[in-house]
Amino acid sequence: MQVVNVGVLGLGTVGSGVVRLLKDHASKISNITGRKLVVKTIVVHNLDKKRDIDLTGIKVTNDIEEIINDEEINIVVEVMGTVATAKRYIELLLSAGKHIITANKDLIATYGSELAELADKNNCDLFYEASVAGGIPILRTIVNSFAADRIIEVKGIVNGTTNYILTKMSQNNMPFSEALKSAQELGFAEPNPTNDIEGIDAAYKMIILTQFAFGINVTLDDIEVEGINGIDLADIKEAKNLGYNIKLLGIAKLVNDRISVNVGPVLVPETQPLSAVQNENNAVLVTGAAVGETMFYGPGAGELPTANSVLSDIIAVTKDIVLETAGNRFNDFSREGKQALPEE
Ligand code: NDP
Ligand code: HSE
Repeated sequence: MQVVNVGVLGLGTVGSGVVRLLKDHASKISNITGRKLVVKTIVVHNLDKKRDIDLTGIKVTNDIEEIINDEEINIVVEVMGTVATAKRYIELLLSAGKHIITANKDLIATYGSELAELADKNNCDLFYEASVAGGIPILRTIVNSFAADRIIEVKGIVNGTTNYILTKMSQNNMPFSEALKSAQELGFAEPNPTNDIEGIDAAYKMIILTQFAFGINVTLDDIEVEGINGIDLADIKEAKNLGYNIKLLGIAKLVNDRISVNVGPVLVPETQPLSAVQNENNAVLVTGAAVGETMFYGPGAGELPTANSVLSDIIAVTKDIVLETAGNRFNDFSREGKQALPEE
């Protein structure tokens, strides 16, 4: 069977999950794709770090050139985070003809269109299912299952760390700082959790969702963003006494034929499904003019759920390699935008 070699940038929470899942499900993936997928090289930051993962047969390096210059590597998974370095590496890799899969929402929300153009120019795929809502396959669902509908609203809980913190504060009376520390230990939080707790991570995800659902590029400047850093145990208790849970929601909707996007804490009545979404789980409600309201629920962060989304992209890219096509990039995913942003 022909081999497709994979390079991986980053071997932290998500990178480890990708290596594990590719190994554990090797024969199933081969059956689906007709190719043997092998992780050949992994780029990390610290070569001396002790890693609790079987890396037999895999080259671990801190030199990106080892992947860029390796003509046997067709697919590269970027799960190291950061914006500037990740962008530079991905540009070099696309220019070298490598297909890219990334979980990096900061990067895609900021430079997605630019990178998609470069991918296009080099006839490469650029996929990023894991960048929004972790293990929930929401991007492909919007592309595939809403293609014939007109989406009116996308809203939901799209950050696992803040939902975990709010759940622990509500159910265990855990102080904010302790709950955040626990989310970090479990690998849900970003290396610098400021983006999580200030709502920026959720805003990046709403930028990507807005692009997919409405075909419109918005930037952070177009979004009203408020995090959960101002919420304390007393606020949570008071909300509960009144029959509400506080949830960090992202909302993108059509208002008078224009798009409005915002992220912030919302009092959600206990009777509503979003109120019952606990811990690191996410839920995205997509309302279509034809279908009405639909809800997609699942783990929004964590090693294996996120790795599963990355694997779904690896399989999609491998199918493209087998068919000798490359498509479904950032802009190709979405439909023509018809709405404009409200004027300031
Ligand atoms: P981690 O901090 O756990 O891992 C980051 C990895 O990248 C580490 O192995 C680190 O190396 C490596 N790395 C960092 N900088 C460099 C560099 N300059 N050169 C080479 N290697 C580098 O991050 P996560 O796995 O949690 O997240 C990775 C990406 O996935 C991020 O973009 C994140 O937003 C996204 N994501 C994360 C989810 C999660 O649940 N954690 C869910 C969805 C998306 P070393 O090990 O040597 O330090
Ligand atoms: N820090 C992010 C979160 C990881 O908690 O949702 C998943 O994107």
